[in-house]
Amino acid sequence: MTAFVFHPFENHNGRLALENVDLVDLSDKMGSPLLVVSENKIRENYRKLDQAFRKRYGKFSIRYAVKSYPNLAVISILRQEGAGADCSTPEEIKIANMAGIPHNRIAFTPNNAHKSELQYGIEKGVAINFDDIPQMRLVKDQLPEVVSFRVNPGVGGGEFPGIVTAGPKAKFGIPVSLVAAAFREAMKYGAKKFGMQMMAGSNVLDWNHFDAVTKAYFDLAGKVSKELGIQFQYLDIGGGFGVPYREGQKELDLEKAATCIVDNLRNACSKYDMEEPVLMVEPGRSMVSNSAVLLGKVTNVKSYDKTFVGTDIGMNLLLRPALYGAFHHIVIANDLSREPSGEVDIVGQICESTDKIGKDIMFPKAEVGDTIAVFNAGAYVSSMSSNYNGHLSPAEVLVGKTGISIIKNAETSSDLVKGMIMPEHLKN
Ligand code: LLP
Repeated sequence: MTAFVFHPFENHNGRLALENVDLVDLSDKMGSPLLVVSENKIRENYRKLDQAFRKRYGKFSIRYAVKSYPNLAVISILRQEGAGADCSTPEEIKIANMAGIPHNRIAFTPNNAHKSELQYGIEKGVAINFDDIPQMRLVKDQLPEVVSFRVNPGVGGGEFPGIVTAGPKAKFGIPVSLVAAAFREAMKYGAKKFGMQMMAGSNVLDWNHFDAVTKAYFDLAGKVSKELGIQFQYLDIGGGFGVPYREGQKELDLEKAATCIVDNLRNACSKYDMEEPVLMVEPGRSMVSNSAVLLGKVTNVKSYDKTFVGTDIGMNLLLRPALYGAFHHIVIANDLSREPSGEVDIVGQICESTDKIGKDIMFPKAEVGDTIAVFNAGAYVSSMSSNYNGHLSPAEVLVGKTGISIIKNAETSSDLVKGMIMPEHLKN
């Protein structure tokens, strides 16, 4: 049996490769751990999503959710494809702008922001989606030209509870019952142009979810539009488009998702006499997740009452399994034909019992020195990593148009103490 590998990664004579680059050799050469990203895959992901919507609805716009992987090169690839950016902090706005995305193509959807952070967004002229009415009041004397709120359409959904972002008791957005009041209050402060945003949850593979959520959302927009006599410049449905993490898992049917989303929007427009707004999406995961693998080395194998495959990839680099119980497919990159031999936990070097990147998985007999590859390492991996236990973040390389480029240097020891100051009295 040969280990399964996700496209665009390939099995070249039992070794993992990307566009003829042998990833085991690359890891040996560049150092371990190493994050390897495919430029082509990011472009392919963008085009697939863009085409699915654009052929059905011309007023369509993509803003890449920078939080998923805020690397300048990655953002620039998506900018070249036509993406704007969705940012959650002023710092993400700065990164997106450094990657060449102009402020008028950036949306800012902060949660519990300081007044100064909202002011930063207003000064730069980015679109702001206020998360709550009091957040708008903080800047009522200097509102942006287009006032938009993040709403909670009352329905949420995501791969697991930790990544559901709407529905009952959600941390985000304004509940349905208060949405009209929010816009009415903005009108009182002089607002004349409006937008609306939502984000119901992440990593959804079932198109029916998008049907249910956008039905509720566009209906809400229509009601508000009619009741207050306002038009929306844009209606933003957030991200959430899922990708398979397991062998055999069915991909999200983007054609079906786009069809029902656009139908729901058009139905609401005609039902409530609403002008067709720009339909906006903010994908993160679906742009980058499957474009990258994290390569690491097996450093120890411990087999007593349980088998632990010790590696140099732990929760410091890949937090998702420890944080949410998320699954990532892992293979032995230097020998893809090795047969699975038993159940193991794949663990890192962190002083925590939850430091597992694979739990109770069937795995081949691993040996010290083997190279492992963790798939779906593009989204929420680098961006959620930490220096815990003194681990330095690894280099990130892009396999792209012009060959192999380093897009982030590995950290060095001095990075760990950067900004720390030793008071005089502690120096002796
Ligand atoms: N827009 C907003 C306002 C968001 O909060 C998010 C993600 C996105 C867009 C992008 O959603 P995506 O297309 O990636 O589903 N750390 C978690 C995912 C949390 C998502 C939070 N918001 C994980 O590792 O699965």
